[in-house]
Amino acid sequence: MELPTLDKFPKRVLAKIDIQRAFILSRLIIAAERLQLFRALHDKPMTAAEIGKSLKLHKLYLLPFLNTMVALGLLHKQKDSYWNTQFAEKYFIAERSIYWTRQYSRECVSDYETLTVLEQALVSGKRHYQIKGRAKPDYLEGMKRDPREAEDFTQMLFHLHQGDAEALAGHLDLSQHRKVLDVAGGSAVMSIALANAKKNPHLHACILDIAPVCRVAAGNVRQAKLSRRIRTQAGDIHRGLPPGYDVIMFCDIGPISSGLLQQAYEKLPPHGLVVLVDRYVSDDGTNPLDRLATHFVASGFGLATRGQMVEALKSCGFRSIKSKKVYQDVWFITGVKPVASSQ
Ligand SMILES: C[S@@+](CC[C@H](N)C(=O)[O-])C[C@H]1O[C@@H](n2cnc3c(N)ncnc32)[C@H](O)[C@@H]1O
Repeated sequence: MELPTLDKFPKRVLAKIDIQRAFILSRLIIAAERLQLFRALHDKPMTAAEIGKSLKLHKLYLLPFLNTMVALGLLHKQKDSYWNTQFAEKYFIAERSIYWTRQYSRECVSDYETLTVLEQALVSGKRHYQIKGRAKPDYLEGMKRDPREAEDFTQMLFHLHQGDAEALAGHLDLSQHRKVLDVAGGSAVMSIALANAKKNPHLHACILDIAPVCRVAAGNVRQAKLSRRIRTQAGDIHRGLPPGYDVIMFCDIGPISSGLLQQAYEKLPPHGLVVLVDRYVSDDGTNPLDRLATHFVASGFGLATRGQMVEALKSCGFRSIKSKKVYQDVWFITGVKPVASSQ
């Protein structure tokens, strides 16, 4: 799965972009996604008038908007007809589901809004919602209120995490383990990959997440024909982890409190395995760029480093701790609960 990072754009396009004004072009691309321009043009040329009618675009902006997409290498134009370039087809259709188109572009708009008070935030140390006098955004409550939001968010991650999941399944040796607790397991993408791996026919898993997310996960599990081996359990991960699992996994859930790790330690049997998967920050704090950038727009992710997570596992009592970057910027950190507790 690939993202349309700048290196994928034609050099002639990049040569025209001033990094300080790149945000204007970025915002226009987000608008194209929000309006589903590339989906409207999927496999089918349209005239400007047809696009204008279908997307309800005002004549003041219609042609400049479409022509900017042409200048960016995202649309072709001949006479009055426009159609997607291969680049747009690949990155805005083939590489992402409709959930991703909806959810990711919505998140990008909210990030833009957040950044309007960036200097005040940098100077005061306050979050954007505090500066604007608003309530702290709570994506979990949003998903509980609106099943469509839960579906978009969860299915976006189902698509986005396929590469991480396959890499994890290839990396982990679970031949001596039977039951995985996938804490805040979301779409079940990780558990499905583990259960689907040929080497793991014995493995069962449970997705612990909030109820609307569990419903989406159960659909994915059914689709993967794994309902007999993967179940869901609706609940709050901060209200205690269920017992009875010999692997406890935390994938892409931001900073994991020492309380939660300690719980995992207590609930695991001797030889039980804890697994952490995330884009943890490098020990010198300078990588990955994307995670650093996210710090300025999202309040939840924190900047835990690989080394800090390793130390956190050690201080809970885990031993044989290993950390490896197997796929892109994703760290896999594992630890084993020793037979005799050596805390
Ligand atoms: C970024 S997603 C990661 C999902 C999945 N682990 C993955 O790797 O794709 C974070 C998940 O944590 C869940 N979550 C966050 N706080 C939670 C809580 N207090 N109780 C249960 N689930 C929670 C969210 O619903 C969401 O599905």
